[in-house]
Amino acid sequence: MSTNSSHDFIVIKAVEDGVNVIGLTRGTDTRFHHSEKLDKGEVMIAQFTEHTSAIKVRGKAIIQTGHGEIESEAKR
Ligand code: TRP
Repeated sequence: MSTNSSHDFIVIKAVEDGVNVIGLTRGTDTRFHHSEKLDKGEVMIAQFTEHTSAIKVRGKAIIQTGHGEIESEAKR
């Protein structure tokens, strides 16, 4: 188990085209600062950083973290 959560990596694999990986800011104000679009099969490896406190995934993807694996679902 890792001890510094701010350096944790997460792995996101898109299961469909057009998955969005959105970075949210750290600090008093929580807002989107970056959005990355992944097509089916594409993988993004991202870290929680000084600037990024949360990551939002929209669309169907497999997400692996130090806490386990989860699959997000597409809105129907
Ligand atoms: N410049 C951002 C940062 O250092 C880059 C980044 C890190 C990011 N993790 C992310 C962008 C997750 C989107 C999602 O925080």
